[in-house]
Amino acid sequence: MPLFWPEKKNIAQVDFDKLPRHIAMIMDGNGRWAKKRGLPRTAGHAAGAETFRTIATYCKEIGLEYLTVYAFSTENWRRSAEEVSAIMDLLKRYLLEAIGKMERDRVKMEFFGDLSPLAPELRELCRRTREISKGYDGCQVNICLNYGGRDELVRAAKAFAQDCVEGRADPNHLSQERFGGYLFSRGVPDPDLIIRPSGELRLSNFLLWQCAYAEFYFTDVLWPDFSKEELHRAIAAYQGRSRRFGGV
Ligand code: IPE
Ligand code: IPE
Ligand code: MG
Repeated sequence: MPLFWPEKKNIAQVDFDKLPRHIAMIMDGNGRWAKKRGLPRTAGHAAGAETFRTIATYCKEIGLEYLTVYAFSTENWRRSAEEVSAIMDLLKRYLLEAIGKMERDRVKMEFFGDLSPLAPELRELCRRTREISKGYDGCQVNICLNYGGRDELVRAAKAFAQDCVEGRADPNHLSQERFGGYLFSRGVPDPDLIIRPSGELRLSNFLLWQCAYAEFYFTDVLWPDFSKEELHRAIAAYQGRSRRFGGV
């Protein structure tokens, strides 16, 4: 149990002893948040990055085991070069900061997605954060970067086929569990709760394999306005549901 818990007494509806193990979030709505204020979309991304800092820190404090966030999809390259580069710069800044406080926080950082098309400097920062934090036992934060669920599945299928061709695997012995070992998320339990802010009711290619039995929480709040209170609402909604996994 964390020792410092200022808000706890005000939140009757969340049972902090029964948190989901793994929460995944689609950080959406930055552009609309900026537009509402007459600001450029990039200002929305900067505000969204702030929200990510707050929420990730809070998840660590309440003792969440796994947090996965959708930061940039395989489809987001369709945006203007200016917007893409602003998002990449924010990521760089965040990772540099994270490296500075990792040892204290003991947050383990992973990346889901194909990092090869990223600028060398950003790729190197991803490699370093992953390397430094790999033995840490705190909250594991997975950043989905150039991630797409379909891309992940095709890559897994290719890697498995290659292993078969080279005699390391046998199609007759492929199980769901083994297949999971070919995904970016290998070793990470499936998300229990997937949160999508911004009012959109879709997955947008997020965790297509892993979402099989996830609970969903949708809210109209735009990501830059997403708060601890909103997270409490999502967790409380999750805790009020009955998960049957096909049973009765
Ligand atoms: C999410 O916010 C950030 C990324 C997809 C990188 P958007 O930029 O999609 O915000 P909206 O959906 O246009 O409001
Ligand atoms: C999903 O949001 C991707 C991220 C939040 C990184 P999008 O804004 O790209 O999704 P669509 O286009 O509304 O489906
Ligand atoms: Mg969007």
